[in-house]
Amino acid sequence: MSDVYILAIETSCDETSMAIVKNGKKVEALTILTQMDTHASFGGVVPEIASRMHTENITMVLEETLKKTSLTLNDISAFAVTYAPGLLGSLLVGVECAKTLSYVFKKPLIAVNHTMGHIYANNIDTNIFYPTLALVVSGGHTDLLLLKNETDMEVLGSTIDDSIGEVYDKVARVLDMPYPGGPNIDKAALKGSYTYDLPHPMKEDGYDFSFSGLKSYIINLVHNEKQRGNAIRICDLAHSFQVVAVDEVIRKVEYALKTTGMKHFILAGGVSANKYLREQLQILCAKYDVEFLVPNQVYCTDNAAMIGCAAYPLYKAGKFADFSLNAKSSENIKKYIENEFLNKNE
Ligand code: KG4
Ligand code: ZN
Repeated sequence: MSDVYILAIETSCDETSMAIVKNGKKVEALTILTQMDTHASFGGVVPEIASRMHTENITMVLEETLKKTSLTLNDISAFAVTYAPGLLGSLLVGVECAKTLSYVFKKPLIAVNHTMGHIYANNIDTNIFYPTLALVVSGGHTDLLLLKNETDMEVLGSTIDDSIGEVYDKVARVLDMPYPGGPNIDKAALKGSYTYDLPHPMKEDGYDFSFSGLKSYIINLVHNEKQRGNAIRICDLAHSFQVVAVDEVIRKVEYALKTTGMKHFILAGGVSANKYLREQLQILCAKYDVEFLVPNQVYCTDNAAMIGCAAYPLYKAGKFADFSLNAKSSENIKKYIENEFLNKNE
């Protein structure tokens, strides 16, 4: 097969991103235009503003991406786009753009699930070795998966309430840190120590995660202390929160490593940029003699390169979307895997 160049589009939240990826592995060009500064003044992403900004910027992002390579749109083998999950109005901008390009240049359209994109960020410049355990930790997801091979996967567990990224952001907000909170908690925690006695989530073994109890406890604690006029030791609370939240992740991953006997582990999603989480997972993997893979920092948070990588196995399998493709704000990753990879819909 000759080289496959996929132009990928990602607009599921507050980044307008496009990339050209060669053979599902090499990033030929990548542009990420973040709206973070605009949303920071509102303390979180405002969906209406996000979709409007995607509409205003998407053509410019396409031009910028093409400028970074000698390729033209005529060289593109297929157009891939994140169609779910995410903010509906934002996703729609990317989906319509991909459909238009696919129609005009008469090349296939590929629909990519955002979570699968995060996983495939681990295939950029390196190789995912199968079978492997994968953990996706982002603003919208906390999923533990078993990837048997490129086209056969199983969801072992997920969060039963909030995602870990959401909890990082909520805790940061109650501590008056700017949006997005995760990186700020990460930084503050480095300067603090474990001095707050916080409740540990579900103690039992299993693959599912829970973070909402921890989140509510911290929000109540901060409100109560403020009402009493007591000062909050922000760095200590950020540190204590992070220790407990990461411990919940570690316990579940350790249980999964023990029960599945996997010798490879991959970390993905925005929260995988977190230093403490990376360190603790690295230590855990070393203990069980497991190979640890995590994307380069730039590919951890939302970007279109990961979408181009995830689209490649679908391209090889001829799994193309038609022009009836619509954006979906939510999609169960388990259902997606069954439909797209295991052909249970056929
Ligand atoms: O994957 P992502 O860019 O978007 C979603 O798909 O949700 O993840 C965004 C999430 C946010 O919750 C953000 O606070 C968190 O990733 N995040 C971090 C760090 N960098 C980003 N959380 C903890 N530590 C970080 N260094
Ligand atoms: Zn994401």
